[in-house]
Amino acid sequence: MPAPENNIVPVLIIGTSVVVVLIAGLFFFVIVYQRKMIKNQVALRRLEDERQQELLKAVISAQESERKRLAEDLHDSVGQVLSAIKLKLHKIDRLSEGQNAMLAETRQLTDECIQEIRNIIHNVLPPVLTDFGLVDALEALCTKMDTNTPIQVTFTRKLTNERFASAIELTLYRIAQELFGNAVKHSEASAIHVELARNGQTLIMSFRDNGIGFNIDSVKHGFGIKNLRSRVQLINGKIDIYSKPLSGTITTINVPLPRG
Ligand SMILES: Nc1ncnc2c1ncn2[C@@H]1O[C@H](COP(=O)(O)OP(=O)(O)O)[C@@H](O)[C@H]1O
Ligand SMILES: [Mg+2]
Repeated sequence: MPAPENNIVPVLIIGTSVVVVLIAGLFFFVIVYQRKMIKNQVALRRLEDERQQELLKAVISAQESERKRLAEDLHDSVGQVLSAIKLKLHKIDRLSEGQNAMLAETRQLTDECIQEIRNIIHNVLPPVLTDFGLVDALEALCTKMDTNTPIQVTFTRKLTNERFASAIELTLYRIAQELFGNAVKHSEASAIHVELARNGQTLIMSFRDNGIGFNIDSVKHGFGIKNLRSRVQLINGKIDIYSKPLSGTITTINVPLPRG
């Protein structure tokens, strides 16, 4: 009969091995499971991002087509009626040989009203953008901002007067509108410089103000900046905002142009 302690050694060895194998198996299982979970989460997040992107795309395109419809409706309905009224008033004025002061005032009001409607239409969808393209439209927007605000606005074009895909033109125009809005509302700038350039297959718009700047990390992000990022993403572009308190803000947008 072997001594009882001699029997215990192999049992201990086997027992320990089984426990080690079990623990190793458990570890392996936990690691594999965790990896799978992480993989699933990444896939889920990507799916969510994609869905959000699609949703955003749909919202922006619905918003744009609604704006287009509104601009056309305003032009065709109210615009036409006002023009007819203006014509009739002109005729009446001629018949009364300019003797009626109230008529002159009414003509003046009608002119103002037509101008207001035109301004609304131009803000909603500027005809210069659809007819002449981004380069001219941006220049016209800069001239308008220079005239209508105390800020000195300058524009430089470093490209020929070419046309780009309408999504790119509209997106960059809307971005410029938002950046002007932000500069006027928040920057206290005295000067703004806008530049549009083409470098090979990249279209670059830069927008610089000499205002108070802001801290991008700590500022409360409004919809404006979020919207800019989404819009740029939708045309596969890249947006960089450099801003420091007291040293103004520079926003640059790079958009790849399709070849051909
Ligand atoms: N050009 C700028 N100069 C200074 N501050 C700015 C400028 N642009 C944006 N900001 C700051 O960033 C914030 C977020 O801007 P935005 O997302 O467009 O929202 P909103 O314009 O509705 O406040 C603004 O409230 C403002 O504090
Ligand atoms: Mg804003």
